[in-house]
Amino acid sequence: MKHFILFLGLGYFGYVFLTPVVFAQTGVSQMPPQLSPFGETASSGLKTFSSVSTHFPAIALTFDDGPHPENTPRLLDILKQYGVRATFFVVGRNVEKYPHIAQRIVSEGHQIGNHTMTHPDLVKLKRKKFDDEVKEVNTIIEAYTGVRPTCIRPPYGSLNSKVEALLHNVYGLNVVLWSVDPKDWKKPGASEVTQRLIEGAKPGAILLAHDIHAQTIEAVGPAIAQLKAQGYRFGTIDQLISLPPSSPSSPSSPLLPVGVRDVGGGTFVSPSANVSGYKVPVRRALPVSN
Ligand code: NI
Repeated sequence: MKHFILFLGLGYFGYVFLTPVVFAQTGVSQMPPQLSPFGETASSGLKTFSSVSTHFPAIALTFDDGPHPENTPRLLDILKQYGVRATFFVVGRNVEKYPHIAQRIVSEGHQIGNHTMTHPDLVKLKRKKFDDEVKEVNTIIEAYTGVRPTCIRPPYGSLNSKVEALLHNVYGLNVVLWSVDPKDWKKPGASEVTQRLIEGAKPGAILLAHDIHAQTIEAVGPAIAQLKAQGYRFGTIDQLISLPPSSPSSPSSPLLPVGVRDVGGGTFVSPSANVSGYKVPVRRALPVSN
């Protein structure tokens, strides 16, 4: 039942995110997503994205390294206020500590992605440790939220062709990097982070930020407000990569026409995950950054 409700919920968000865009264009040519420098496309069809090729003013906000006990709930409040969906690349050990926040992320319509168990550099790991880092997060997220991640962001964006192939072919995950990095983890000041997010945005952009920093949370509201005023719409990673491609000859403006329906918010149905029955092994806490 819960999966059915979740399916309905996801279908609803796909509908409201895509509808105006789908209506806005017809007969366009296929344009591929922009691939990572490694550029491999697995036979499974899974890919590595740093942005998506589209002329529609759609972007994805992504937040790494949480959940954080204070900052993530504050961010969720702000996203709800603006009716914006985002993607959270969570660290497994933080989900273990704050499973109710992971549940809130999902129940409010955001996408949750894998950011490994303890935030190591995947390129440096032996296969056994690599498997532990990638596999256990998916298990934990699914147990707590009822949702299995479809994508992973490797910590530090660290990737080589071997790691990329494993993530695609063995784990069935899209790999998500970014096209805009405001370096919010260096704490340059909230207004500077806001400015960097706005300046980096363009159709199909994937914006990186970290929901573990208070400054970042402060920066997000003004960035969303200004980007919305420019005509941008916000979607999850899965929504962004499902966008119909567009061509430069498309008659539609890079900005949406006035009066298109907004993404809306607050109506997602919770999958009602059962936390209490799930036990995971205790792990040594590792420092988390970027
Ligand atoms: Ni990170």
